Amino acid sequence: MSSETGPSKDVSEEHLPSERVSHGAVEPAGDPFADPGLPPHEHRRQDIDERAAKSSERTVALLFVVSMLATIGFIASFVAIPVDRITYIWPMGNISALNFALGMTLGISLFCIGAGAVHWARTLMSDEEHVQERHPIEATPETKAQVLSDFRMGAAESQFGRRKLIRNTMFGALALVPLSGVVLLRDLGPLPEDKLRHTPWEKGKLLINQNTHEPLRAEDVTVGSLTFAVPEGLEHDDPHYMEELAKAALMLVRLEPEDIKDKRELDWSHEGIVAFSKICTHVGCPISLYEQQTHHVLCPCHQSTFDLSDGARVIFGPAGHPLPQLRIGVNSEGYLEALDDFKEPVGPSFWERG
Ligand code: FES
Repeated sequence: MSSETGPSKDVSEEHLPSERVSHGAVEPAGDPFADPGLPPHEHRRQDIDERAAKSSERTVALLFVVSMLATIGFIASFVAIPVDRITYIWPMGNISALNFALGMTLGISLFCIGAGAVHWARTLMSDEEHVQERHPIEATPETKAQVLSDFRMGAAESQFGRRKLIRNTMFGALALVPLSGVVLLRDLGPLPEDKLRHTPWEKGKLLINQNTHEPLRAEDVTVGSLTFAVPEGLEHDDPHYMEELAKAALMLVRLEPEDIKDKRELDWSHEGIVAFSKICTHVGCPISLYEQQTHHVLCPCHQSTFDLSDGARVIFGPAGHPLPQLRIGVNSEGYLEALDDFKEPVGPSFWERG
């Protein structure tokens, strides 16, 4: 929008308060979306102090050097650390030393590149604001004709159509390249077969409180609380500790008998205490959020919600299967114990269930 202004008048005087000037354009008064314009540009310390700019330059360079060292560490870890070495890392416990080293070094390497680039952009690259009007994106007919003509000329110069041997072998090479990805599928195997059908739970195994590491008594599980348990005998220094824990992780709640909707649960419970796998049947995240009024548990990953008072039925979200239930009772000393293994595989439901 334009407005006539006399050469001798000050623009702001002439248009205010009835009109507003912004980036050289004058907008009508009363427009609720009037462009407020840009605030005055403020110079950064690095723009006016060469020593500060040098210091920023050194910081960026240091971050990039750390990234390089981390990448070298990644390669060295890959070569030097045996794939089956287990190490204790606080607070995660026993984990694969190779995975830890690869994850840490790659993480540091990528983080330092990102941090260096951000610091560079924020402190040294130009931060002057510019306003540019939008133009139609479509090219003009002349430009389109020029591009087509350039393309045809390039094709003719490359002799792509004439040298059929090169053209055909190139197509062959491009078609075969994806096959190298296919061999990597080997790493998806071997199939788990019936390993997922068995967990460390079996008849007589005590339920151990995952926080206190003490055997659980029925009275330890109170109404309104969510208790996590693992089977007795699961040792931290066992090389398969994480796998076994992932399959056996259990959560317990105590329900008032009148709250239980699926009365079949009563046979599998002890005095209203029900025990379900803690591993979400969608893609296997651990479930940890419990709403005591509704007895719903929520998986934090994709919000699948299960009703523990109704056989852990899925009431919301992408999970396709209820959480497997563990049958429990108490032994002669009053400790909670498993009466069997889970009757079905725990975890993601894409493993076919019989
Ligand atoms: S893993 Fe639980 S909802 Fe996706």
